Amino acid sequence: MLRRLGYLLLAGLALVGALVLVGGVLAIRQGFGSRQAPPAWEAFLAKRIYRLSIPEEARLQQNPFPPTRDWLQQGMEHYADHCAQCHANNGSGETEMGKTLYPRPPDMRKQETQSLTDGELYYIIHNGIRMTGMPAWGEEGHDAESWKLVLFLRHLPKLTREEEREMEKLNPKGPKERAEEREEESFLEGDDKSSP
Ligand code: HEC
Repeated sequence: MLRRLGYLLLAGLALVGALVLVGGVLAIRQGFGSRQAPPAWEAFLAKRIYRLSIPEEARLQQNPFPPTRDWLQQGMEHYADHCAQCHANNGSGETEMGKTLYPRPPDMRKQETQSLTDGELYYIIHNGIRMTGMPAWGEEGHDAESWKLVLFLRHLPKLTREEEREMEKLNPKGPKERAEEREEESFLEGDDKSSP
């Protein structure tokens, strides 16, 4: 009886070892580029496992900031400055960087993200997600800014075109874009020193 159990255990271990080996060889042959999106099963598994790792007490935390206009506005400004380069102003993830990250930033307007609790969203923003492009934000300890970001994430499905345009002005710009903007402005003001 015991001997049979031993054989079974050995066979099981050998099978797991073989699977790991085959998986490893396949992964190495495929390379570790980030152009292709993760297969659906990988994204599904990784997401479930990650969500299981969020502690219950973090999941149940409630947002201490009610969605007043001021706090929502602050969340929006912060998002435009720090999150939009990957997630896009409207939360779709359709950005130059987002399109080739592995895993991709999800469309945060959708159910998959919106069904997370406020506590889970806060936890993700505050702690980041290891082995993905998602960094951890805010100071350690009490982090009011991340709670205001949660308010804004909840607002994403209702974002208006005007709000999006307002955000575009707040998106970080490189020196080239700033110079172009200055040139355009002085051209519009009729300053003939600048060439059209
Ligand atoms: C450098 C790119 C990058 C930046 C900047 C970034 N994120 Fe992310 N974020 C990601 C990626 C990639 C994922 C997907 C990770 C995954 O699939 O597990 C993600 C995931 C998330 C998620 C989880 C969504 C879900 O449904 O699982 C939330 C919430 C989030 N980000 C919020 C933010 C906020 C708020 C900011 C700004 C403070 C921000 N992110 C900045 C890349 C970024």
